[in-house]
Amino acid sequence: MLIIAVPKETTPGERRVALAPDGVRALVARGAEVLIERDAGHGASIANAAYETAGARVSDGEVLSKADMVLQVSGPTDGYSGTIQGMSEGSALVAFMFPQSNLETVLELKEKRITCFAMDLMPRISRAQAMDALSSMSTIAGYKSVLLAAAELPKFFPMLMTAAGSIAPARVLVIGAGVAGLQAIATARRLGAIVEAFDVRPAVKEQVESLGAKYVDLGLSSEEAEDAGGYAKEVSSDTHVHELKVIAQQLPKSDVVITTALIPGRPAPKLITEEMVRTMARGSVIVDLAAANGGNCELSVPGQTVQRFGVSIIGLFDMPSSMAVHASQMYSKNITAFVSHVINDGELDVDLEDAVTRGALLTHDGKIMHEPTRLLIEKGIS
Ligand code: NAI
Repeated sequence: MLIIAVPKETTPGERRVALAPDGVRALVARGAEVLIERDAGHGASIANAAYETAGARVSDGEVLSKADMVLQVSGPTDGYSGTIQGMSEGSALVAFMFPQSNLETVLELKEKRITCFAMDLMPRISRAQAMDALSSMSTIAGYKSVLLAAAELPKFFPMLMTAAGSIAPARVLVIGAGVAGLQAIATARRLGAIVEAFDVRPAVKEQVESLGAKYVDLGLSSEEAEDAGGYAKEVSSDTHVHELKVIAQQLPKSDVVITTALIPGRPAPKLITEEMVRTMARGSVIVDLAAANGGNCELSVPGQTVQRFGVSIIGLFDMPSSMAVHASQMYSKNITAFVSHVINDGELDVDLEDAVTRGALLTHDGKIMHEPTRLLIEKGIS
C-alpha cells in the first residue's frame, strides 16, 4: 500500500498545509494510507481529529522516512533541504519547487533518486485545470492584493453620499489581466472602485469588460503579444516604450495600482519607474504582485511595504499563506487531483507518455527531467 505523508511545513511563516481532510478521504479511497504529522494543519485551522475522522493516521514522530510519497506546499529550497535528507531513497515528493531558482536542491533530489513532481510545472492545459495550484494561489493573491491596498489607502473605495458631503470612488488600475489580475479587478469592483485594466494580450479585453472595468487598449495585435500557447511573450522595445507612456499617463489619476504582469520563465517586466512613482498623488498605493520575481515596479522591495515619495509600495508575497484556510483547501484539491492521476492500483505509476505527468516531472530515476532546469545546471557546471 502506498504510504503518503504530510509533514508540517518548514518554511518560516508558512501556514498552509498540503492536504485537507477532503483530500485525505479522496486518497484513502484510491487505496493509499495517509500519514499526517501531528499539528500539520494548525496554521490552516485544521484539527488533528478532523484528519483522523477522514481516515488518516496522525503521527507524533517524523513522517518523512516512512513515506513512499511526501506532499508539501513549499518544497525544499537551496539551503533548506532537510525534507530531502529525511526522505527515503527512491521515494516521491510533490510540492511547489521553483527549480530554476533552486538548482542545488534539484541536484540533491537527483542524487537521492527521488521522483519529484513540481506543482509549479503543471502544464496549463484544460485536462490539468483541476491540478493548477499556481492559478489557485494567484486567485488568492489577486483578491488579497486589493484588500491590502484598501486597508493602506487613506480613502474610501466606494462612492458615498453622506451628510458630510459626497465622496468620489477610488480609481484602481490593474496591470496584467491574467488569473491574479482578473480577480483583483473583480474584488476592486465589488468594493465599489472605478477600475481600469490592461494587458499586452488583446484577447483579455472582453473578460476585463465583463467584470465592469474599462479596458485600456495598447493597440497590440495577438501575434505581437502571444506565443502559440496563448501566453504573453516579451514585447519589442518600441512596444515597451509605448506601454510605459500609457502607464505614465494613467498613474497620476490612479489611487491604487495593482501590477501582475508576468511572462512565463522570464523576470517580471519593469513597468513602473521611479520617475513615474514621483508623479503619483501622495497617499496612493502600489501593490506589486511580481515582487518575488524581480518586481513590476522599480522601487518595490520583496517581502516589504515601503514608502517612496508619499506612495506606499507593497511587495509582500505571503498572500496565499495569509489566507491559509482557503489556500490549503484549494491546494489540497489541486494536489489530490494530481496524485490521483499518478496512482494506479494503489501504486505510483509514472507514465512518461502522459503530458500532465511528464510536464510536472522534475526528477526521476536519478535524472533531471525538466529540460530548462537541466540545461541551467549543465551551464553552471561547465
Ligand atoms: P498570469 O500568467 O495568469 O497573468 C499574467 C498576465 O500578465 C498575463 O495576462 C500577461 O499577458 C500579462 N503581461 C505580461 N507582460 C505584460 C506587460 N508588459 N504589460 C501588461 N501585461 C503583461 O499570471 P498570474 O497567475 O495571474 O500571476 C501574476 C503574478 O502574481 C505573478 O508574478 C505571480 O508570481 C504573482 N503571484 C504573487 C503572489 C503573492 O503572494 N505576491 C501569489 C501568487 C502569484
